[in-house]
Amino acid sequence: MSQSFLSVQPYKGTRDFYPEEMRFRHWLFESLRQTVSAYGYEAYDGPMLEPFELYAAKSGQELVNEQLYSFEDRGGRKVAMRPEMTPTLARMVAARSSQLSKPIRWYSLPNLWRYERPQRGRLREHWQLNVDLLGLSSEAAEIEIVQIAIDILRNLGASSFDFEVQLSHRELNNDLFSRVLKLQPEQTAAVARAIDKRAKIPAEKFEELLHEAACSAEQISTLKHFLDAPLLEIGEVYGESEGYLAMCRFFDGVNALGLGPVCRFNASIMRGLDYYTGTVFEVYDKHPDNRRALFGGGRYDNLVGMFGQTQVPGVGFGMGDVTLKDFLEVHGLMPELQSHVDVLIGLFDADMLITSQALARQLRAEGLRVEAVLQPQKLGKQFQYADKKGIPLVIMIGPDEATTGQATLKNLRTGEQQTLAQADLLPTIQAQLKI
Ligand code: HAM
Repeated sequence: MSQSFLSVQPYKGTRDFYPEEMRFRHWLFESLRQTVSAYGYEAYDGPMLEPFELYAAKSGQELVNEQLYSFEDRGGRKVAMRPEMTPTLARMVAARSSQLSKPIRWYSLPNLWRYERPQRGRLREHWQLNVDLLGLSSEAAEIEIVQIAIDILRNLGASSFDFEVQLSHRELNNDLFSRVLKLQPEQTAAVARAIDKRAKIPAEKFEELLHEAACSAEQISTLKHFLDAPLLEIGEVYGESEGYLAMCRFFDGVNALGLGPVCRFNASIMRGLDYYTGTVFEVYDKHPDNRRALFGGGRYDNLVGMFGQTQVPGVGFGMGDVTLKDFLEVHGLMPELQSHVDVLIGLFDADMLITSQALARQLRAEGLRVEAVLQPQKLGKQFQYADKKGIPLVIMIGPDEATTGQATLKNLRTGEQQTLAQADLLPTIQAQLKI
């Protein structure tokens, strides 16, 4: 008789993390932590559930109206699962702003929730490294933040040819919209949205969107010229714009550091979040199979002031684990990750259980990662198990060896096997693990 069971799949757009996937996540997070720690950044975290109003004010229309997981709790309060970390960060900084020494260098690795159509590079739950520098108004902050973004990818094995940091400046766009194109306020949002979509749609569709936003042929031509021009060419028209000057100072800095070839001015970088006030940037994968933004970030000088008395300027970025994994895959940079166990203590027969358990305890106390067989099994099976799990060393103690204080150690990497005094096990294992 067949038994019925509940078939419950993970919620669409979320992932189960089996140990294999956890191994990758640990490896990735460890590399990210090492890179940001090298710049002096400290970890922070916040709640996954936040008051709805935290996002309503500044996170941007699309995120709030279409992507937010929000509901009423049992007490009738409107809450939301965090879709991004920056508003939480701003609230936390605002609450202690006078006590925190500046500049503040913080990072976080939260899981975030967005109701998006699950597809390559986009899920409904993802993990996002957030790196933010607060308390500095000068471009020195952008220069440090962009260096971190570059080092993150380099430390994961990427070369400078694999990705590109593309930057623009909100004030430059504002200057274009109001002074040069003379757009009406109601046109501006539609034009900004069209620019944001430009890289993903055909040229005709882009023009169509601009016509829909009531732009004239002349405005469209001026806009397209601006969007395609390198920074040096727009100086004549935008030379007085604070956005233009800030971009020039930024590029002077990164060029002097030898990072110029990985950074490019691209006036089409808009970013959908409303709180950005200055530099905006995205890091793009240059591989033809994964042309996606890996990081997105920018300067937000007015966000912290929304939650407290003092205004604290900030610059930072978010980088998602989904797009980063795609990046590592297409560039052949995925690591081969093995089990983290150093030694398997085999079980000769049921009578030897306590002897092998005692040895396992001793070796663990010396700092080794030790797994012990708990049920008698054919010896061959025990070796096969170790091999399959990538455990390099197996120890076996039979009754004769127990009486003489010896043990057999097999190295599965070299095939070498030796019988030695139990007292000599530790140094021998340590030496063999270094191979
Ligand atoms: P964002 O551009 O919305 O920025 O997200 C940053 C990165 O998170 C994206 O480039 C992408 O890698 C990843 N990401 C976003 N949504 C998804 C998704 N549904 N599935 C998978 N990955 C995703 C922000 O969130 C800003 N708060 C970043 C920031 C920090 N700005 C300043 N500081």
